Amino acid sequence: MMRVIRFERFGGPEVLTMTTVPDPVPGPGEVVVDIHAASVNPVDWKIRSGRLERYFKSTFPVIPGRDGAGVVASLGSGVAGVKVGDAVSFVAAHMGQGTYAEKIALTADRLVAKPAGLSFAGAAAYPLAGLTAWMAVVSTAPVERGMKVLIHAGAGGVGGIAVQIARHRGAEVVATASAANADYVRSLGASQVIAYDREDFSARLKDLDLVFDTMGGAIHARSYRVLKKGGTLVWITAEPVDDHGAKYGVAVKQALVRDNPDALRGLAALVAQGEIRPQVGRVLPLADAAEAHRLSETGHVRGKIVLAMR
Ligand SMILES: NC(=O)c1ccc[n+]([C@@H]2O[C@H](COP(=O)([O-])OP(=O)(O)OC[C@H]3O[C@@H](n4cnc5c(N)ncnc54)[C@H](OP(=O)(O)O)[C@@H]3O)[C@@H](O)[C@H]2O)c1
Repeated sequence: MMRVIRFERFGGPEVLTMTTVPDPVPGPGEVVVDIHAASVNPVDWKIRSGRLERYFKSTFPVIPGRDGAGVVASLGSGVAGVKVGDAVSFVAAHMGQGTYAEKIALTADRLVAKPAGLSFAGAAAYPLAGLTAWMAVVSTAPVERGMKVLIHAGAGGVGGIAVQIARHRGAEVVATASAANADYVRSLGASQVIAYDREDFSARLKDLDLVFDTMGGAIHARSYRVLKKGGTLVWITAEPVDDHGAKYGVAVKQALVRDNPDALRGLAALVAQGEIRPQVGRVLPLADAAEAHRLSETGHVRGKIVLAMR
């Protein structure tokens, strides 16, 4: 039997309960991973609250969690290239059969190796946030050497990795964060940080090549002003956005985050090279998943919250 966190109805963090369920068994082509750590992503509590029900149909009970890291414990038939004992990171295949659990069954192609020097918490902290950043600034609106790029919420899970990827690709990176996080975001590779609690980025910046909007709403609306004509505004789903691309003469692109083993391998390679340093803000035991959601819902976590299973 294994411990899991799950919920049987939508609601606040209190609907998350710890229970035990039978261990998963690997099917053909699958492995079972002993999960050591799972990250908390905003999508976890957005699903738990019921507000994403239009987009992701939930079948109760739901085990939250999209990504994690651990050690391969058993192999199904026909698995090649992976062995018991391998330390790995992964993104879960199915919403609702998530990573707030001590074990998970996954097809082997979903695994990437954990570098020896990286903690399990670090290895759990980057897959989904990193994939999101990758889809935005590599796949959808590729950052190129010499570009001047603004990344919103550089202290957050997605923004923190986007800053590192954009810097690695040779861009000059500006980011927004609170004043308290300015030095932290500079340490990730931003050459300039605009403290959103002290000044308006749209009054300070102009003629940028690219903005990565992780916030939406009013921040999205103000982002058009800082782009040069022909620039690009790439966004992910957060607060609702209105497209003013035609008015400002900029391309507006939504980065859709889909399963993408190649992108995960690309990310993992940069992590292994030390070009991306996964950022673990807090580690809490699995039993404290509700507290982890409360913290994430404040919208002011630095890096990632990670749940530890052991
Ligand atoms: N498929 C998709 O479209 C997709 C995928 C992943 C994520 N998302 C969404 O993208 C958003 C960001 O995700 P995330 O994982 O990066 O969230 P997160 O880690 O919870 O982001 C928290 C960060 O946001 C920063 N922040 C808060 N208000 C800000 C402001 N006004 N200006 C600049 N920074 C601000 C905070 O910095 P301070 O502490 O300094 O305030 C904090 O570090 C979420 O809404 C998430 O649901 C969408």
